[in-house]
Amino acid sequence: MTTNTSQTVSTLPPVGDRLRRLPPYGFAIVGQKIAEMNAAGKDVIRLDVGSPDMPPPDHVLETLRQSVLDPTKHGYGSYRGHKVFREAVAAYYQRRFGVKLDESKEVLPLIGSKEGIVNLAQAYVDHGDEVIVPDLNYPAYSMGTIMAGGETIIMRLDPNNGFRPDLKSLREHPDLPKAKLLWVNYPNNPTGAVVDLNLYEDLVTFCRENRILLCSDNPYMEIVFDGYTAPSALQADPDKTCTVEFMSLSKTYNMAGWRLGACVGNREAIDALLVIKSNIDSGHFRSIYDAGAAALNDTPQGWIDQRNAIYQARRDKLLAVCPQIGLSPVRTSGSMYVWAKVKDGDDQSYVISALEQALVSITAGEMYGYAGRGYVRFSIGIADERLDEAVERLKGWYQRR
Ligand SMILES: Cc1ncc(COP(=O)(O)O)c(C=O)c1O
Repeated sequence: MTTNTSQTVSTLPPVGDRLRRLPPYGFAIVGQKIAEMNAAGKDVIRLDVGSPDMPPPDHVLETLRQSVLDPTKHGYGSYRGHKVFREAVAAYYQRRFGVKLDESKEVLPLIGSKEGIVNLAQAYVDHGDEVIVPDLNYPAYSMGTIMAGGETIIMRLDPNNGFRPDLKSLREHPDLPKAKLLWVNYPNNPTGAVVDLNLYEDLVTFCRENRILLCSDNPYMEIVFDGYTAPSALQADPDKTCTVEFMSLSKTYNMAGWRLGACVGNREAIDALLVIKSNIDSGHFRSIYDAGAAALNDTPQGWIDQRNAIYQARRDKLLAVCPQIGLSPVRTSGSMYVWAKVKDGDDQSYVISALEQALVSITAGEMYGYAGRGYVRFSIGIADERLDEAVERLKGWYQRR
């Protein structure tokens, strides 16, 4: 007699409601499927994840190498991270944006900005509270909200107005008085949209009027093309009355796996985040901060410009091929992505078919919100030869369809 093991009753207690409300992370599912395909001998080219393919600057690696050899650098540090890194973040904001930050109170190192984004909700959001998230968005804003027990107010981004938020309809939203946080992200993931300082000025006014913390998620501030320079939200709120910004070394210095970023701005919000974090993590070991400080202090602008020129050429290659593979791309001047409309409108079947038949993984727009239906996202964090190969595969696949 055979036993049907799939029907086995679990010996564990049921998971909590919080987990039941949380959908599995989209990239984890895609990653699992690709791992299975690779194990079956299929060479999948990944244009889905926004992970830089190029290395950090040499002086950053050398600083890390020297630092780890020092036996005093391997213990626990302060929950506020190390001063050497906080000072480097403050110096960067002064140099780059003319924004003055008190490193001891207005800069909090993070284990990657994603960690801080999710933990900020733990600090502010209770059951019944609302968080305003753009549609389209990086999923951590809404997932952090769900984990904290809150609800989201969807803020439409207007594709006919450069994917800027529609503040007019937001003002009329019945749940606006329950909103505590408002998330924005420019240069934008997934669309690549960029904005001028006047958008942040409008947002600061809106947030002050409604007693909301403006949360600017700005990991792509240095991934820009066509001569564009990205502003910081803190330039619109130099006294940091209602604004925090999340910066990250992941994309700026090709250090995604290092997990290093910072939350900067309003000190009350930073203190609140620190209380959550100090109960959860113990920061990095000192050498990571040393290397992060070296990245911020000593990387010449020429290194960033050269890297961006490589990304821009990849972006242009994808923009050019889109019409040949059934896509209308949106041309923008920032981030690591190309956002494109699927001509026949079905993003899910487009990405499944591209993965299974062309062995090229791209992301379905729906992963970023309702407004993503009918769009796909390409990452340009892929070596040139692999991108060329992906483009050829996609062209062949689309012609055969
Ligand atoms: C918009 C946005 N915010 C935050 C992050 C998280 O970056 P990290 O945690 O590596 O700093 C990402 C990563 O892709 C992103 O696209």
